[in-house]
Amino acid sequence: MTIVVGVTGGIAAYKTVSLVRGFVLAGHDVHVVPTEAALRFVGTPTWEAVSRNPVTADLYDGVDEVRHVALGQKADLIVIAPATANTIAKLAHGIADDLLTNTVLASKAPVVIAPAMHTGMWQAPATQANVRTLRERGVVVVGPASGQLTGSDSGPGRMEEPDDIARAALTHVLGQAPATQGSAAPASAARSRRARVDSASAGTRLDLDGLRVVVTAGGTREPFDPVRFMGNRSSGKQGMAIAAAAAARGAVVTLIAANVGTDAVPDGIAVESVSTTLELEKAVTDAAGDADVVIMAAAVADYRPAQVQQGKIKKEHTGDRLTVEFVVNPDILAELSAARPEGQLVIGFAAETEKDPATLLELGRSKIARKGCDFLVVNNVGWNHGFATDDNDVIVLNRAGDIVMEASGTKLSVADRILDATLSRVP
Ligand code: PMT
Repeated sequence: MTIVVGVTGGIAAYKTVSLVRGFVLAGHDVHVVPTEAALRFVGTPTWEAVSRNPVTADLYDGVDEVRHVALGQKADLIVIAPATANTIAKLAHGIADDLLTNTVLASKAPVVIAPAMHTGMWQAPATQANVRTLRERGVVVVGPASGQLTGSDSGPGRMEEPDDIARAALTHVLGQAPATQGSAAPASAARSRRARVDSASAGTRLDLDGLRVVVTAGGTREPFDPVRFMGNRSSGKQGMAIAAAAAARGAVVTLIAANVGTDAVPDGIAVESVSTTLELEKAVTDAAGDADVVIMAAAVADYRPAQVQQGKIKKEHTGDRLTVEFVVNPDILAELSAARPEGQLVIGFAAETEKDPATLLELGRSKIARKGCDFLVVNNVGWNHGFATDDNDVIVLNRAGDIVMEASGTKLSVADRILDATLSRVP
């Protein structure tokens, strides 16, 4: 894969040296594009030595080959680390006044940025608005992490660690892989996707190597008759992001997908498609038998119609009102938790519309107590958030009801954070 690594002017540029080195050692063709300010922190010889490619910050070098367009076009991925408030603002507003911003503007490649700056600059309304704009355009924002800053202050603003940036970037590319499953994608597309999966794995920390992970995604549908069902708005994005993130980290993943397209699921992930809650129950129970981890991200219907009509329900027969009797579905998460073999980790989700944070937490605590799982990922859902969005906001609780992690960002970055917070507990 051809990766353009943009480096902007922050002290964290020294950490980007190992990001570049990691990509190169994993077999990627890496082109570093520093800004003039970045070169005050780490010089051209270092970037050339680690990337094994010529490096320039000058827009007017190599004008004959239209360098910014050429670089932008050949990039499969652009990673900007560190990304300063200034460069983030330029990207958000389409300002192109150096080689890096020109390259980004000329490219269709996925863009991943790792912000690094003082907490005050990060929290400034202008920066937050710019970051929101970039996220809305599909840019993946990794971090910043919280902690000791360069001066005496501490807070959010530290650049994420190179391993985490690489993992998020490569997972993002995986998530964007072109469809092949059940589609007429040409063999070359399949090969290139395979290559991406392999190189992604090679470039990331394989901290889940060989771990058997079962993930459910999507929403179950409960039919009334051959043409109608009761369902929910789950798109499967959060569950599929967890599956992709776990696979990129070396896990052996089985995805149980309820009513969602799985064309974009990376090769190597075993997919079983289901529709109703009872089908999901069977599939996940079978798969869970020899799993190390089960993650229930699917939105499961609590009830199903007591009777499924064999013919279409006709208005002529039902009149102005239709009454349907529902019966309760099995609580799959509670069943899995109760029956889990020694050492298996079971992680549930809680989709709640409660807006008050304290009440939300209480709902999460009572849900984990009822379901008996090891961790519960609590997310607030509503008309415009949680379901079918690209971003998510989560709180992860342990069995004691303590908060072990809070994360917000793209569903892919949240997926990685959930895996970080929970799978370190796998024996
Ligand atoms: O798919 P997306 O569009 O990306 O949206 C993601 C999501 C909002 C669907 C996801 O993040 C999420 O919250 N999934 C869980 C939805 C849900 O069913 O929540 P719940 O609070 O109703 O259920 C709690 C847990 O019990 C869940 O793990 C659920 O899978 C499980 N459950 C629920 C009912 C049931 N009969 N059996 C179950 O196992």
